[in-house]
Amino acid sequence: MIPKLSDLDLKGRAVFLRVDFNVPLDKKTFEITDDTRMKAAVPTIIKIISDGGNVILMSHFGRPKEGPEDKYSLKHLVRHLGELLDGKEIQFADDCIGESAVQKAASLKPGDVLLLENLRFYKEEEKGDEAFAEKLAKLGDVYVNDAFGTAHRAHASTAVIAKFFPREKRMFGLLMESEIKAAEKVLKDAEKPFVAIIGGAKVSDKILILENLLDRATDIIIGGGMAYTFFKAEGGNIGSSLCEDERIGTAKEIMDKATEKGSCIHLPSDSIIADKFANDANISSSMSTTIPDNWMGLDIGQMACDMFTKVIHNAKTILWNGPMGVFEMDNFQHGTKAIAQAVAEATQKGAYSLVGGGDSVAAVNQFGFTDKVSYVSTGGGAMLEFFEGKALPGIAAISE
Ligand code: 3PG
Ligand code: MG
Repeated sequence: MIPKLSDLDLKGRAVFLRVDFNVPLDKKTFEITDDTRMKAAVPTIIKIISDGGNVILMSHFGRPKEGPEDKYSLKHLVRHLGELLDGKEIQFADDCIGESAVQKAASLKPGDVLLLENLRFYKEEEKGDEAFAEKLAKLGDVYVNDAFGTAHRAHASTAVIAKFFPREKRMFGLLMESEIKAAEKVLKDAEKPFVAIIGGAKVSDKILILENLLDRATDIIIGGGMAYTFFKAEGGNIGSSLCEDERIGTAKEIMDKATEKGSCIHLPSDSIIADKFANDANISSSMSTTIPDNWMGLDIGQMACDMFTKVIHNAKTILWNGPMGVFEMDNFQHGTKAIAQAVAEATQKGAYSLVGGGDSVAAVNQFGFTDKVSYVSTGGGAMLEFFEGKALPGIAAISE
C-alpha cells in the first residue's frame, strides 16, 4: 500500500513538496498568464500547513540552458503564490541546495512555506544525478510528489530522490492522487462507449497514444492538422494542408489495425480551408479529400462537427487530447469549440470526460467549459505518456 498524505502525522515535519510550477509568464511583465498548475497544488499545501507541517516547495521552471537565468527564476512566482494562499508570506531561497537553502529550511516553523529556486539551474536535475538528489533530500523529513505535469521525467527531484526517504515517508500529494485516479478510470476502467478525441498538428506525436487506444476505445475521433496525413494515406487531395509524408504508412497501419480491432476511426469529412496560414486568409469550405491546390485545411467543417457531436453525445467515457483546428485564430476555432460544447453536453448527461494536453486545456479554458467537463489534467506530455501505456517515472518511484 502506498502511504497517503492523510495517513501520516505531519505535525512539526518538514515536508519536501515537488510541484510543477512550470506556468506561462508574460515575457515583459513576468506576470503569470495561466496559473492553473499553481492553483492545482494549493490543496496539498493547505493540507500540510493545517496539519502543522512546514512546506519546502521545489519545482523546475522553463528550460534554462546553462545555470541561473533571471527569466527562469521562481522568484517571479512568489507574490502570486502568496495571493493563492490568502496572503500568506512565502519565503524564498535563491538556491535549491547549498547553505542558503539548508539554513532557511532548517529554521522553518510549523505552517511556514519556503519556495526554493529553480531546480533546473543545476544540470544534475535533468540528468537524474544521485548526489544532487541526496542533497535535496536532506532538506526535508517527508517527500511528497504532486508534480503530475512532470511525472514523465526521470529527473533527480521527480524520481531519483524518492529512494532517500523510507517507504512510509514518500507519497503522492492530493493533485497527483486525483490525476492518477482520473487517468486510470479512463485507461483501465472506461465505461463503453469510450470515445477518444485526438487532435493536434502532428501524427508523429500521437502514434503511440493512438495505438494504445485502438485496444480500448469504441470510437477514435481524429482532428487537427494530423488528420490530413490520414486523408493523404487514403489517396485524397489535401492541397497544401499539413502532411507528414514519412508517416503516411503509419496512418495506413493505424486505420488497418482499427478495422481489425473493431475500433471505429472518424476523420473530419469536410474542412474549413484557407489560402494561407493566417486569420485574414481567404476562407472557404471543402470535402477533406478534394481540397484545391494551394489551399489548406485549418479547421474541421460543419458536417464533421455534426458527425463528431453525434458520436460524442453517445459516449459514456471521453478522453480529449489535442484541438480540432488552429483555434488560436478566431476564424478557425469553430470546430474545437463545437467539440468542447459536445463534450460538455455529454458530461451533463452523465458521461465521464477527461481533458488533457496543453492546447486542448487552453481551448476548454478559453471557451469557458472548464467546469463543464469531469476532469482537466495539468499534464501535457505526462498525460500523453500515461495514455501511451508507459510507466511514468514520477509515479513509479513512489508506487514501486
Ligand atoms: C511541461 O510543462 O511539459 C512540464 O512541466 C515538463 O516540462 P519539460 O517538458 O520542460 O520537461
Ligand atoms: Mg513538456
